[in-house]
Amino acid sequence: MKRDALSEEKLSQFLSDCPWFSEAVCFDVLPSTNDYAKQLATEGKQEGTVVLADSQTAGKGRLGRRFFSPEHSGLYMSLILRPKAFQQDAGLLTACGAVAVHQAILELSGVCTDIKWVNDIYFKNKKLCGILAESQFTSSGSFDFVILGIGINLVPPKEGYAEEIRGTATSLSELCGCQPLPDKLNLCAAVVRHWFLLYNKLPDTEFLKIYRENSCVLGERVSYQKNGATYVGMAEEIDDLARLVIRHEDGKREVLGTGEVNMVRPVL
Ligand code: BTN
Repeated sequence: MKRDALSEEKLSQFLSDCPWFSEAVCFDVLPSTNDYAKQLATEGKQEGTVVLADSQTAGKGRLGRRFFSPEHSGLYMSLILRPKAFQQDAGLLTACGAVAVHQAILELSGVCTDIKWVNDIYFKNKKLCGILAESQFTSSGSFDFVILGIGINLVPPKEGYAEEIRGTATSLSELCGCQPLPDKLNLCAAVVRHWFLLYNKLPDTEFLKIYRENSCVLGERVSYQKNGATYVGMAEEIDDLARLVIRHEDGKREVLGTGEVNMVRPVL
């Protein structure tokens, strides 16, 4: 758990033009940047605090899954947020995170990634980045804080991808071709900057245009799991709350929220 003062200083410099950035807290290794950020938020750290680790020993994905976070391979970051009343829709927040990552990668590498509902970033059917938003509520039911955790694969791990994700994972270096790989702290800063530009505009959801334009499920036949069963339908729309609207073969329309569905996949 050694703090990395050099990275903290450099990330703060990269974000010196971002008025919503508060503080950088960087480590060589943490169990999970989301868990550490949660601890800091509970102790009262401000919105705009960024926690970063070079590797995670217990990186968490959605729905209790692991997120592989080997050293020198990825950007593993968590951002503390304290949403105001009009920003308090979990689905919109995660969609906003996906667009911020999409834009940051495009800005620094020129690679135009796909967004897979609800909040994964893909390129040519392989996963490049996962996003996990975790919320803590007050007794009155509003958000006390939200931790926005983002993991972007930058280079393939030295020892290769873990078996479960071999064949389905990719990294930015594999997509950049001859282009230099963006600096990790610069990429982190770009994500934070894009994030706040979108988040501060809520409840304006103009960013959903970018979300929809880059969606790899919209207009496709998709399969998804809900309550333990698998369903297939046409992904017809992403609505203004970033929910996925499915049209079934019998003509019925179903609106899927972020928390209730596992694994939405295009059916080939
Ligand atoms: C997913 O793919 O299901 C979401 C993955 C989110 C991974 C990031 S890495 C930084 C932050 N810390 C964690 O433990 N998880 C998130």
